[in-house]
Amino acid sequence: MDYNNFFKSKLDNLKDEGLYRTFREIDRHQNLFPKALEYNEGHNREVEIWCSNDYLNMSQHPEVMQTCIDVISELGTGSGGTRNISGTSSYHVGLEKCLAELHNKDRALVFPSAYTANQSTISILCKNIDDIEIFSDELNHASLIEGIRNSGAKYHIFKHNNIDDLEKKLNDCDIEKPKLIVCESIYSMEGIRSPLKEIVRLAKKYNSLTYLDEVHSVGLYGPSGSGIAAELGIDRDIDIINGTLSKSFGQMGGYIAANADLIDYIRSFAPGFIFTSSINPSVAAASIKSIEISKVAETLRLKIRENSSIIREGLRSVNIPFIDNESHIVPILVKGPLECKQISKLLLDDFGIYIQPVFYPTVPKGEERLRVTITPKHSKADIDNFISCINEAWNILNFERAESKNLNSRA
Ligand SMILES: Cc1ncc(COP(=O)(O)O)c(C=O)c1O
Repeated sequence: MDYNNFFKSKLDNLKDEGLYRTFREIDRHQNLFPKALEYNEGHNREVEIWCSNDYLNMSQHPEVMQTCIDVISELGTGSGGTRNISGTSSYHVGLEKCLAELHNKDRALVFPSAYTANQSTISILCKNIDDIEIFSDELNHASLIEGIRNSGAKYHIFKHNNIDDLEKKLNDCDIEKPKLIVCESIYSMEGIRSPLKEIVRLAKKYNSLTYLDEVHSVGLYGPSGSGIAAELGIDRDIDIINGTLSKSFGQMGGYIAANADLIDYIRSFAPGFIFTSSINPSVAAASIKSIEISKVAETLRLKIRENSSIIREGLRSVNIPFIDNESHIVPILVKGPLECKQISKLLLDDFGIYIQPVFYPTVPKGEERLRVTITPKHSKADIDNFISCINEAWNILNFERAESKNLNSRA
């Protein structure tokens, strides 16, 4: 076999379909955010970021940075091993306590990322429960899908946020069989919430376990930023809550929170937890500090709500189509991967506005978008400038204008 030819032809196909990804080099200097420096062929210039998941800008919070520096001075950089073999520091243990408390659960378990947390937990959970059947929302994140597929268990995909379809599928399954429902609390590419209370009601009715990905809600929603399950008062009803340290908390790593036996079970059996080095102690310590600060960051959360309303109003006023929701995520619909790349490039090159285009496989084909994320650091002047730039770019490219879209109707 001509291996190189194989790789090259696969890449050529990807390029022909407009699905090839290019990474822009963006240095987010502290104190500048949402401004940053873009490096391009030896030059650098100031741009403004509109697609960061550092939702509360905790990665550049002075106290969080100082904590990280202090712990590096104290313990060095790496953790030195897996959790079992010299890689558990007092900061790892402290972080797990802090996360368990945040989610009102007995215990938590930290992984190198929320991706591995999802993938490893679901796969080992379902691999070992005979005859379990999994019920998964059709827009679930790749990490959840990987976990489900790797488990080898039988799975059913229910229509996005569609309770009737979920119930029909649960009802078709033998009531005696073990079950797991897997969903997210806010879908990251649409900013729309799942009908969580209804899902919990069905889980009880059909005797199913529940697995909830709160990656895009922790830090931002619920009491002290503890997530949407907590906001709805059903955190104790969800069996496993998953979250990340890399978005609102501005660090690196992911976790699950659940009852003591379940956590001990995953800790003892999940290869994706056992056979990998633990996160750096400095990252664990910075995460604790970041969570402490986020818990009392009501002003920042309020500012995000205000900013997202202003940006939605601005887009509405110039008839640029977006998915309407009440979250910090504003998906602007640009159908077609090439068109999406084109406007993203124009915005960056001519207006200094950085939003990465999002296309397949991150979103279904035909649903390409610019996923705008709003932070408390974006000012009213930044938002006004953003609306004016995108409006002009829309004119230059002669894109169709339309009203916003309420995707809840998809259900
Ligand atoms: C819904 C969802 N779950 C999990 C992850 C993985 O998070 P992490 O970056 O911590 O691996 C992501 C990443 O963007 C996500 O969007």
